[in-house]
Formats: sequence, C-alpha cells, structure tokens
Amino acid sequence: MALLEVKGVSKHFGGVSALSRVSLCVEEREIVGLIGPNGAGKTSFFNCLTGLLKVDEGKILLGRDQRVLSGMSSDRILEAGIARTFQNLRIFRNMTLLENVAIGFHARTRSGLWDAFVRSPRARKEEKMIFDQSRELLRFMGLESFGNEIAANLPYGHQKRLEIARALASSPRLLCLDEPVAGMNPSEKEALAGVIRKIREKNIAVLLIEHDMKVVMPLSDRLVVLDEGEVIAEGRPQDIKNNPRVIQAYLGEG
Ligand SMILES: Nc1ncnc2c1ncn2[C@@H]1O[C@H](COP(=O)(O)OP(=O)(O)OP(=O)(O)O)[C@@H](O)[C@H]1O
Ligand SMILES: [Mg+2]
Repeated sequence: MALLEVKGVSKHFGGVSALSRVSLCVEEREIVGLIGPNGAGKTSFFNCLTGLLKVDEGKILLGRDQRVLSGMSSDRILEAGIARTFQNLRIFRNMTLLENVAIGFHARTRSGLWDAFVRSPRARKEEKMIFDQSRELLRFMGLESFGNEIAANLPYGHQKRLEIARALASSPRLLCLDEPVAGMNPSEKEALAGVIRKIREKNIAVLLIEHDMKVVMPLSDRLVVLDEGEVIAEGRPQDIKNNPRVIQAYLGEG
C-alpha cells in the first residue's frame, strides 16, 4: 500500500483550474519528482497536500491506515507526517539557525504553555533535548558550524538547507520540497542531491518539485508531469524524457 494516495484532487481559482482531478501516489522511501512548465500547478498541489489550500474535490490519504488528510488543518497534516519547504523560502530571518530548527520541533513537543511559563523540570528537559536534536539536524544538513549565526546573514544556499532542517524536525514520513536547488551553484546542487538521498535512507519519502532536469532526473525513482493542472505523464525518468506529450508541454512554454 502506498504511503500517500491522492485521488482526483481539483482546485480552481475563479476561472483558472490550477488542478484538475490530479491523482498520484508515493510509496514508502520513494523519491518522486513532480515536474511541469511554469504555472502547471505544482505549488498549488503542495498547498493542497499540506492544508494551506482546501481542495474543491478529491481525497488525500496517508499511511497504511489510510488517514484522510483532505479537510484537515495544516498543523494537523504536519503532525500526521507531511512536512514541506517553500518555493519562496520561509524562515525566521532574524533568529539563529538553531532557533529556526528548534521551532520545527513544535509539532512534536509535549509540555504545554504552563510548563514553559513556570520552567518546570519537564519543560527544561524537553528544551535541552530539542536543542540537542536541532544541532544534530544542522549537522545532517552540513550547517553545524552556523548554529548561532542569524539566518539572514548566511548565503541563500545555506538558508535553503536550513529550511529543510526545520522541516525534518517534525519527523515527517513524507517531505515535500518546492524547488530546493533553485538559486544554488552546481556544487551546492550536487551536495543537496546527496542530502536528499540520505533523507530517503532515514525512511522518509520525498516529493520533489524541481525545474533543473540535471538534478531531478537522476534523483527520482519516478516522475509525475503536470501541465495546466493535469497529470499528463508518469513513469521512470528515462521514459518521461522521450514522452512526446511532455516534450510538447515544455516546448509550448518556449
Ligand atoms: N492563490 C492563488 N490565487 C489565484 N490563482 C492562483 C493562486 N495560486 C496559484 N494560482 C494560479 O494557479 C496556476 C498554477 O500555479 P502554481 O503556482 O501552482 O504553478 P507552478 O507549477 O508551481 O509554477 P512555477 O513552476 O512557476 O512555480 C497558475 O495559473 C497560477 O496563476
Ligand atoms: Mg511553483
């Protein structure tokens, strides 16, 4: 059974069909590339998946117990196991890297406001644990020496990796990355591709929106191609590359 199953999801903005009956699935430990020309609906799909947008129709199911996510709030979807990053970076620019990642643990922390207020032993113990694990995630993302730096002071590529570290803090089962290598130089891109493979080794499936074919082709087990809100092709990267409908969709883009 698939980890994620999306059945016939549609989303309209006035007269624009951002998504029309999109169905796809992601297996455990699978890396699926979601590609398609500008305006194809890729980010809208992530927004529906993570509860930022309510779907007009269709169903989103997660896990062996087929939990229905469509209709849930974005907080509850994060708790259920889907984390994401954003096409236009969303980090706390004036906080340190360590603080940014610590905030990502919010979905999992146990002690409540009262504990935090009175600084109960439980809250202090939990806080220490969170900062230890945040350091560990920064190390995993190759950012260990920047923990106490203010996020805004670091290069863009570092900030993008920070956002992934924060997403991982929620212990997702599925990580959704919206153009993670955009704006990176070739060696940063290659390093990040390596990190995405390591994320899969942690038993986390990855859904990857990416325009850079040199990155998404070798990295993905499977590709799903969107065009004008519809899935126009799906399959192994080497087959998709030669699919006439896909070539046409990209040519139409100019
Ligand atoms: N909040 C919104 N309100 C109105 N229209 C929207 C909204 N979000 C997206 N759209 C429209 O939906 C369509 C799909 O946009 P989307 O951002 O999902 O595409 P995309 O595949 O992510 O494109 P890109 O590769 O450029 O990031 C576009 O026509 C876009 O203008
Ligand atoms: Mg987009």
